[in-house]
Amino acid sequence: MSEIQEKLLKSLQDFQSTQLVKDKYENILEHLDSGIILFNSYGMLTFINVQMARLLGISRSSLIGCSITEILRHAQLGRSNKRKLLRIYKETIFQRKGHHEFCDERGRHWLLSITYGDQMDGDYLISAKDVSDYKLIEETAYQNDKLAMLGKISASIAHEIRNPLTAIRGFIQLLRPHLLQIGKDEYARIILAEIDRANDIISEFLNSSKPSAPQTTIINVSSLLKETVLLTESEALMKGCQIVLYEPDESTYISVDVKQIKQVILNIIKNAMDAIEEIGHDDAGIIEIHIEEVHKSVRIHIRDNGNGMDNNTLSRLFDPFFTTKESGTGLGLSVSYRIIKNHGGVISVESELGKGTQFMITLPFTKFKH
Ligand SMILES: Nc1ncnc2c1ncn2[C@@H]1O[C@H](COP(=O)(O)OP(=O)(O)O)[C@@H](O)[C@H]1O
Ligand SMILES: [Mg+2]
Repeated sequence: MSEIQEKLLKSLQDFQSTQLVKDKYENILEHLDSGIILFNSYGMLTFINVQMARLLGISRSSLIGCSITEILRHAQLGRSNKRKLLRIYKETIFQRKGHHEFCDERGRHWLLSITYGDQMDGDYLISAKDVSDYKLIEETAYQNDKLAMLGKISASIAHEIRNPLTAIRGFIQLLRPHLLQIGKDEYARIILAEIDRANDIISEFLNSSKPSAPQTTIINVSSLLKETVLLTESEALMKGCQIVLYEPDESTYISVDVKQIKQVILNIIKNAMDAIEEIGHDDAGIIEIHIEEVHKSVRIHIRDNGNGMDNNTLSRLFDPFFTTKESGTGLGLSVSYRIIKNHGGVISVESELGKGTQFMITLPFTKFKH
């Protein structure tokens, strides 16, 4: 082989191997779970990966070589995506923001970042990363912070209110013989009873908001639910609603703090009764409870046909002190959330305004008896 032939063969081999590496990297970029789009210095699209094309809802082949204006006029581009693109364009190009966040149709959160300048040879690289999981962690941390704060506030409320109450109680007792002399012992009795009631309310509030580790016992889900339903039946009857407990499988056991879990179920049933009262059903209000086994957990469903919730209520439901009721405390669900979390479980909700609400409590189960 001549020297020239050898050189030619060598450069061909070099070219092939560079091409192979290039193909490999392109393939990786194309199938990355983040979306990537590259514009050259003339504003022409030179590369787009599968994920980004999916986000735009346009086929990749019809996008290569398009300018940003052509993309905005693209026949396959849906109206909501067009609006989204225009907003991103405005923020990143005109306001020179390096980041933009948006939510797609499936409710996933994306973080968009744009890179350009010297290191990009005049190209503009836009990448979109799915940050839904980080968002969820962030929200949970925020929720936990709020709950921790609630615990602190309650402790200081206890100090601030209980002490003066104790003093008042003492003095009333001292005055009691004098009141008796003037025939007003009844006043003393009422004042003492009311102070005791105020103390009880504070204790209940503190008990429910103080974070405490669950005292677990192994219990049959079926009897736990039956006992809890029994506690609410008379109130339900008075409010004209029916509670239906679909006979659960007797063999499902969970290891929980019975008092706490009962409190959670009671909170949810009471809210359901309030929601039914709100809608004013003529005795057609119904609360259905059933359980289901999911993987290694038990899921308790509590569904009502009450007034349901709008999105604002849904998003703030578990916030301490959030209530839409005149005499509500807004503590029931925030406490329930914490109790279920302490048990290693999850509480979730689905609701439709005017139709009803379903709460789902998922708890890890202990064992099945056959
Ligand atoms: N089943 C339900 N149907 C409709 N709204 C509900 C339901 N459960 C809870 N909510 C809403 O969530 C809010 C917070 O509930 P909760 O924490 O128990 O506090 P409270 O019952 O004192 O208002 C309620 O005020 C209500 O707006
Ligand atoms: Mg409540």
